[in-house]
Amino acid sequence: MYLGIDLGTSGVKAMLIDADQRVIGSASGRDVETARPHAGWSEQDPADWIRATEEAVAALRAAHPAEFSAVRGIGLSGHMHGATLIDAEDRVLRPCIMWNDTRSHREAAALDADPRFRSITGNIVFPGFTAPKLAWVKNNEPETFAKVRRVLLPKDYLRLWLAGEHLSEMSDSAGTSWLDTSARKWSAELLAATDLDERQMPGLVEGTEPAGVLRAELAAKWGLGAGIVIAGGAGDNAASACGMGTVREGTAFVSLGTSGVLFAANASYLPNPESAVHAFCHALPGTWHQMGVILSATDALNWHSRVTGASAADLTQELGDALKAPSSVTFLPYLSGERTPHNDAAIRGAFLGLGHESGRPVLTQAVLEGVSFALRDNLEALKSAGTRLSRVTAIGGGSRSRYWLKSIATALNLPVDLPADGDFGAAFGAARLGLIAATGANPVDVLTAPATAETIEPETALTAAYEDAYQRYRRLYPAIRAAY
Ligand code: XUL
Repeated sequence: MYLGIDLGTSGVKAMLIDADQRVIGSASGRDVETARPHAGWSEQDPADWIRATEEAVAALRAAHPAEFSAVRGIGLSGHMHGATLIDAEDRVLRPCIMWNDTRSHREAAALDADPRFRSITGNIVFPGFTAPKLAWVKNNEPETFAKVRRVLLPKDYLRLWLAGEHLSEMSDSAGTSWLDTSARKWSAELLAATDLDERQMPGLVEGTEPAGVLRAELAAKWGLGAGIVIAGGAGDNAASACGMGTVREGTAFVSLGTSGVLFAANASYLPNPESAVHAFCHALPGTWHQMGVILSATDALNWHSRVTGASAADLTQELGDALKAPSSVTFLPYLSGERTPHNDAAIRGAFLGLGHESGRPVLTQAVLEGVSFALRDNLEALKSAGTRLSRVTAIGGGSRSRYWLKSIATALNLPVDLPADGDFGAAFGAARLGLIAATGANPVDVLTAPATAETIEPETALTAAYEDAYQRYRRLYPAIRAAY
């Protein structure tokens, strides 16, 4: 048995799979709260991650006691880029500054102006990445900066608790702005540019390699034996790719989670920072991937749900399943600023083209379309980075909405595959990495793609209307940018 633990933005999911990769069960802890003490800030308390992991594991153990006691390997996945700052006694120094926190936009621009960052990491220094956050802490909380003994990514903080080790792996570390993404090692030069050195970074392994053993105390508490291997694991997007078998060149997925991601596996390292496409290491040795990232996907629908007082499920149900042509209303989903393609921390969202007739369903339709068009922007960015996609597989909570899937297929003008029954997301990918690290199995044999249950084709009758609406959407960003 193998355990996958995915530290998501809203909570922790634990999943148990057997040696044949059959899912035995999964469970979640209570939600993890995100604090937004100032506009553009987003923070979590790492103690909540441990609490939620304990709850998820306890629930999984209670539901499958015999199977859980046979766990041999664990894999970790987590939201990327977060700065978890640790002192010499492994104590957390301040709340984790999260991936969608844009407070460090000035520091990010300053680092990005140093050409070494783009050339060594292959990426823009986005405000959400880790290095500019450390520069912000140095400028604004110098007493905290002086105490930083280690900088850990969120899932690697869970590893510290699970195994007592300071270790990370390539896929998550590629999102720090300190990794030499081609050579797969820390860049001493880039660390020095932010007044840090390699001793403050965790050791690096590949995602498929062992990276720690479950502490005896936790093993005893969870009824497990000695020597339970913990895999390097992966950042949540690379972990989802491992779950979906998105590891071969030409395969791709669209993820509708809190963030929205268009992810393409690459056979080689293909940086193209000018397009604002992310070029990161994959979780397997010698492989890389590209992705476009939008900061608010289901987060945009959740915002609309909070404002209207209706649940996200009710809002999407109200639309029915039949795709409609876009109305006069356009929604820009830039609630936390945007990464791909704009790299703009200050831009904010908008509803435009409202009329007396624009009721709640019309606004919901516009919110879903706005995210679809933002993903189309990402498809165009991937194209300019040299990657052409012929189809994508959909994952993430938002993919439960048929309407949204049809809208995305039509906006991207690509078939969208739905995996056959099951959950092939980040927790499953993490469990697969746990299996590989514990058994030494060949990653290519393990990381296969699930069967496709159904393909959502673009609605050809509406592609012209969607194209017109997309062109209108594209023209709005520079207009809004100029107006504020
Ligand atoms: C990727 C990114 C998000 C987070 C949260 O660059 O910032 O997808 O990993 O899921």
